[in-house]
Order: sequence, then C-alpha cells, then structure tokens
Amino acid sequence: MSEQRVKTYYTGQVRKEWQRLVRDAYHHLEFETTLHFLEKYLPKRGCILDAGGGPGRYTIELAKRGYQVVLLDVTPANLEFAKRQIKRARVQNNVAEVAQGSIVDLSRFSSNSFDAVVCLGGPLSHVVDARKRARAVAELTRVAKNGAPFFASVMSRLSVLVVVLTLFPHEIELPQFKRLRDTGDIDGSTGFTSCHFFLPEELRETFCSKRLQVLEMVGLEGLGSNHRKEINQLAKDPKRWKVWRETHFQTCTHPTVVGISEHILIVSRKTKA
Ligand SMILES: C[S@@+](CC[C@H](N)C(=O)[O-])C[C@H]1O[C@@H](n2cnc3c(N)ncnc32)[C@H](O)[C@@H]1O
Repeated sequence: MSEQRVKTYYTGQVRKEWQRLVRDAYHHLEFETTLHFLEKYLPKRGCILDAGGGPGRYTIELAKRGYQVVLLDVTPANLEFAKRQIKRARVQNNVAEVAQGSIVDLSRFSSNSFDAVVCLGGPLSHVVDARKRARAVAELTRVAKNGAPFFASVMSRLSVLVVVLTLFPHEIELPQFKRLRDTGDIDGSTGFTSCHFFLPEELRETFCSKRLQVLEMVGLEGLGSNHRKEINQLAKDPKRWKVWRETHFQTCTHPTVVGISEHILIVSRKTKA
C-alpha cells in the first residue's frame, strides 16, 4: 500500500525530481555536499549501485566520472525519463543496467557484487515499515563487496518539525503532527507521500551492525537548513557565498548540525568479513 502510494507520488514528480538538486543554491548544496563525501570515500573505479536513483542525477554524474553504474528505482516513470537523460548525456556505455525494483528485495543482484552502493535523497525514508527498512539496509549491505562504501541520505525528523512550524503551523494541532513528532512517520494521506523521518541517533543505530562500520554523518543542507530564501540570496554575492560554503563544509559534520539538517547523509563501509 505504502509502496504503491510512493510510486504514484513520484510518477507525478519526475521532472520536478530531476530538477530538484539543481533548482537553486539551497538545493545545490545538498548535491555538492553529497558529491564531496562520495569523492572522499569512493574507490577510483568500479561498479556502483544507485539504489532509489530516481530520474538519474547521481547515476549520470557518476557515469561521467568513469564509474559503471546500475540504476535501480521503484518508479517506472523515473526510469523511462532517466534512460533518455543517460542518452542525452552520452554516458550509456557507463550505465550497465536501468532496473525497476525495490531496495527491500535486491535478490536480482548477487551478494558482494558492487564496489560501492549509494541510496540518496531519501529512498530509505520512503520505506515506512521499520522491519522492511532494516531489510533494505541488510540487502544494500549484502550486495556491496567487502570493504565497499555504502552512502545513504534520509530525511530528518527534527528538520521536518521546523518545516511544519514555519510553513504549516495550522497542522500543529492535528493528531498527525504528534504522530510525526513521536514516531517520525507520515502516512501520505496529505501533501507529501508516505515517509519516515529519522532522528540522527536512530539512523546511526539502523546502520550499526556486524557488517557495517559507520564512518561519518553529515548534514547536507547544514546550518542553512530551512533558510532557503536566505541561502539563495547569499549565493548571489560571490564573496559572501564563498565564506558561507567554507562555513558549511567546516560545520556540516557537527552532531548538532547533522540533527537539524533537512537531509542527513550516513557514510558507512561494509566490513571485510
Ligand atoms: C527524493 S527521490 C531521490 C532520487 C535520487 N536518488 C536523487 O537523490 O535525486 C526518492 C526516490 O526513491 C525512490 N524510491 C522510493 N521507495 C523506493 C523503494 N522501496 N525502492 C527503490 N526506490 C524507491 C522513488 O521512486 C524516488 O525516485
């Protein structure tokens, strides 16, 4: 039910989703910061699974950098769009496969087959059932080679409470608000689709297992989270923007900043045995 709801939602959002990471300076910071940490930990070459890769923004970026990429997403409309963008970017030789499927069941892929796994922009947040979410993390870990990095970014619970405060204050009196505050879940009956918003410590616990070592957690929008207007205004002034970017990269791994950021990236590594 929840998976169907997510598919229906993203089927109606393909172009918006393609534009999301490049639409303005605020969103671009999520993209740049993610790429910064990918560059820090990715091997020089190899095959990467882009799980929940949507219309393919990261697939294309990674393919341009010379990696072989497999793009997997649950929403067919995203994949049709991605195939066209992959051709347009002339990177089809580096895209090994574009496949429809859910991160909860990766049985189509053998164990230990990818040099890195990325699951970015919230696919794990859209698996609302906690047991299925744990299964997805286990599957994404299984298909990574021993020693391979596994990057996932999710949506943050503390940040979404601020979103309600600033944009939808009338919703604070509804039962859904307390449910979101206390469980992190929204059922997708209003506005956004079914989603689980993570507390930072909960995300870390989800990734703490015998097979994964957590390397780093990052607030992707950082201190500027929920200050879209101010960030976009600042970005028009190159001198001020340079200093803010520096400030952002200096502070984005601070635990407080991680917690309040709209998207939280967790960087982990599959242990050797
Ligand atoms: C916010 S988009 C992020 C897309 C892309 N990774 C990015 O950062 O631009 C979330 C994506 O997760 C996909 N998704 C949601 N649930 C999924 C699941 N169970 N398995 C695979 N993909 C899923 C959606 O179809 C959508 O494309």
